[in-house]
Amino acid sequence: MYVGVAYYPEHWERRRWAVDARLMQRAGFNVVRLAEFAWKFLEPEEGRFEFGWLDEALAVLRRHGIAAILCTPTAAMPAWVPAKYPEVMALQKDGTRLVWGVRKNNCFTSGTYRLLSARITRAMAEHFARTPNVIGWQTDNEFGGPVCYCGTCRSEFQAWLRTRYGSLAALNRAWGTHFWGQAFGDWAEIPLPVDPTAHNPGLCLDWQRFFSWLNVRFQREQVAILRAHCPRHFITHNFMGLFSDLDYYELAADLDHVSWDNYPVWGKPEVRYGAAMAADVMRGLKKRNFWIMEQTAGPGGWGTFGRTPRPGEIRNVAYQQLARGADGMLWFRWRTCTAGREQYWHGLLGHDGRPLRRYREAALTAREFHRLAPHVSGTEVRPQVAMLYDYESIWALRFQPGYAKNDYHQALHRHYNALFRAGMNVDMVRPGDDLRAYKVVIASDLFILPDAVARALCAFVAAGGVLVADCRTGVKDETNLCHPRTLPGLLSSPLGIEIQEYEALADDMQYPAAGADGLGEELTAVHVADWVIPRGAETLVRYRPRHLRRYAAATRHRFGKGWALYVGTVFKEEVFYDQLVALVLEHARLRPVVTPPPGVEVAVREARGRRLLFLVNHTEQAQRVRVPSGKQELLTGRRTGTEWTLDALGVAVIRL
Ligand code: GLA
Ligand code: ZN
Repeated sequence: MYVGVAYYPEHWERRRWAVDARLMQRAGFNVVRLAEFAWKFLEPEEGRFEFGWLDEALAVLRRHGIAAILCTPTAAMPAWVPAKYPEVMALQKDGTRLVWGVRKNNCFTSGTYRLLSARITRAMAEHFARTPNVIGWQTDNEFGGPVCYCGTCRSEFQAWLRTRYGSLAALNRAWGTHFWGQAFGDWAEIPLPVDPTAHNPGLCLDWQRFFSWLNVRFQREQVAILRAHCPRHFITHNFMGLFSDLDYYELAADLDHVSWDNYPVWGKPEVRYGAAMAADVMRGLKKRNFWIMEQTAGPGGWGTFGRTPRPGEIRNVAYQQLARGADGMLWFRWRTCTAGREQYWHGLLGHDGRPLRRYREAALTAREFHRLAPHVSGTEVRPQVAMLYDYESIWALRFQPGYAKNDYHQALHRHYNALFRAGMNVDMVRPGDDLRAYKVVIASDLFILPDAVARALCAFVAAGGVLVADCRTGVKDETNLCHPRTLPGLLSSPLGIEIQEYEALADDMQYPAAGADGLGEELTAVHVADWVIPRGAETLVRYRPRHLRRYAAATRHRFGKGWALYVGTVFKEEVFYDQLVALVLEHARLRPVVTPPPGVEVAVREARGRRLLFLVNHTEQAQRVRVPSGKQELLTGRRTGTEWTLDALGVAVIRL
């Protein structure tokens, strides 16, 4: 088990390094991340490398039993780069170049920048390949931008399209360029969609795919160099949870494991559904455990700072991630920097460098993690419920949400949070992936639905699975054209419904609705309404207004050996989704290991012959949870009775 911090020795005087290393060691830290933005110190002028200082820092850390992950430092270029090669700076929509001095400001098609990136990566890889305490690499930092509108980007985009479509005729068909007479007669005519809310939807989707691919290609070039020189080191990247400008499945494909940066401590304390779902998305990228590369250590912010983790919260936040598949955990950052843009981004230590409350809580957590390591090692989360998670739907919905309040993550959260409250773990799965491990699949807001994916969902239900779909699922094909079929298209037969009409509801409009089967007598449909016509399905919720009495708002249908449920609107009442989940679990014959009280999170990690039940209390009150009795709780060593009491914000790990 690796536990540690992001460390920037270049920010501090050398005589402090040994003090830091000793404090880290005392805290139980055994890994740091180094050199993330240190390009200038590693290559002060083009082609002249200085690795001595980093060798020295690594040696100090090694003497204290601390390993290191090194970063390719390409997220922050030195000032000499644009001074010599102005064209590496990304060009904005207005035709002006980004000004150097903020991170992440390069054009990704710039051959110069790619060469400079390859050179520093190779030099570092060669130099540190045999440093004993280097164990792995992080590529760059938080890939995601910027978007560049320069001439090279445009011609590369055109070339990329040519490879993708082969012929202009195929591209014209895919994008539907007969509309507004947009058919292209030459690849060079294809523009960059500066306004994705007004340009052709097919063009916009491909531009987003291309932008994502540029980042993936840039990383791939670094990965190839690192693999060649450092075959014993792992390679990862620090992803950003629910950030969705890139196709994270593609970015993860070249890596050994995914890592991500978790900063949930912003607004008022609450149940951390977002960080839970983000963890599941991260685990889903490679279908394997992940690391937390940056974990909340204090108030964060650039100009203003947010709240500080309450006592117990640093530990609580860390356990939430451990429970969901984290195999490594590094806090961001060690000591708060006295200089630069991130003076307010607080680390475990303040500006004063003293090991106070936040340090002590991280140290306690680290020591507990090491004690748990033999139990946790090799375990993973193996849910039987899957939600489809699709970047292309996210992008297409950004250009055309359909109904104004349509937010992909919110749509997923309605179901996800209800599953969380029921104590059920979820896998986030890429559309098209094998679904055989699951009994329940939720395809919420799955706007882009290629026929092959729709057919796989039909087969899943026919074979006994339980499917939940909802409004705007299956509207578009993979080229962002509307399917020329009555909704919900190929899903009509498993769902047993037809939707001939639908509408968005303005904020001052809502439809009262009534549910059967415990789904809620008094429901309110908001934001959007599908006028669902049952064609074999049973109505679960009906709209009350006179003009909608013939239509269903939610349905259920037996299809083959399975069930398919449809929700054609958004219900204001959370209880609807809780009841829907109860119904779905009943149909799938699934039960949680424990049913938690409100505010308590449940996750199970398992390996052959081992099952660990994690309980995480997100509330400020002690909570009593009914648990299997006669089991060992690993943090206290005590045996369980029929109930286990969690302290406020407390956690428990029970070996089942
Ligand atoms: C990101 C980066 C870090 C740091 C923090 C705080 O997560 O990866 O380098 O900049 O934000 O701003
Ligand atoms: Zn460019």
